[in-house]
Amino acid sequence: KGPNMNMPPCATLTICGMRLRITYSNLLKRSRRVGILILRYLKILIIWAKMKIILLGPPGAGKGTIAKLLAERRNLKHISKGDLLRQAVANGTDLGLKAKSFMDSGKLVPDDLIIGMIEAKLKKEKINDFEFDGFPRTIAQADSLAKISSIDKVINLTDSDEVIVQRLSGRRTCRKCGAIFHVKNMPPKKAGFCDQCKAELFQREDDKEEAIRERLKVYKKQTSPLIDYYKKKKLLVEINAELRAEVVLENVLKSLVGV
Ligand code: AP5
Repeated sequence: KGPNMNMPPCATLTICGMRLRITYSNLLKRSRRVGILILRYLKILIIWAKMKIILLGPPGAGKGTIAKLLAERRNLKHISKGDLLRQAVANGTDLGLKAKSFMDSGKLVPDDLIIGMIEAKLKKEKINDFEFDGFPRTIAQADSLAKISSIDKVINLTDSDEVIVQRLSGRRTCRKCGAIFHVKNMPPKKAGFCDQCKAELFQREDDKEEAIRERLKVYKKQTSPLIDYYKKKKLLVEINAELRAEVVLENVLKSLVGV
């Protein structure tokens, strides 16, 4: 609809020789549109400010890669259960000693150890906004999490088994800062060394073929039921993770704006 010519103009402007008639109705319409835009922007800011996200997906789906990119872009606290456990193993803590054999063989660490660790971390560090990568992995873990925190969105990264095996067998991780590379898909600038901190890259014990097969079996049996669990709660969004990491990240970001 054009401006209402019957309304008296509230101002007349001349720009580059053109006369512009601004009517009261025109002004009202524009300010309403600006108001709506401001409200939408504020809503997005509120959503980002209080985001609690879970990244689901099989081993090697790209949870760690996407979680790190998302944390940088949106200033979220990235909590990787796998990284926390590997840290505990490296530090030789009681928990690390108990978890090591489960992890190396591709099995899940018992629920009671995992749940206790997460509860302690959330309470101790007073974390309110987070993205969990690798937690929860069982229905019992999801039930425990529901008792201590609400969740805004669960992102399920999907890949075929073929892509997963290719990704895991070529993955290299930085010993110092945990950055993730792939010998073919995302090679470091200098082979065998981290781009960010220049430390040495290593291949995880559970990225050997036998452990990969066991992890996939464990995922299908113990973790994949979480897809239906979160679907029923209307929190789940599926994202194709076989695309380039930057494209996957953009699709994840889009899915979060619609929350
Ligand atoms: P964890 O470290 O969490 O392993 P995971 O879930 O098996 O996942 P991964 O870290 O192997 O893969 P990812 O999905 O993060 O993929 P990534 O981004 O690295 O857990 C390890 C172990 O700890 C478990 O097996 C278990 O024992 C124990 N554990 C952990 N949490 C537990 C829990 N809650 N309960 C009980 N036990 C628990 O990518 C993989 C590769 O692909 C990389 O090389 C990357 O560069 C490449 N890549 C990623 N995205 C792309 C892309 N889009 N295109 C091309 N290449 C890509």
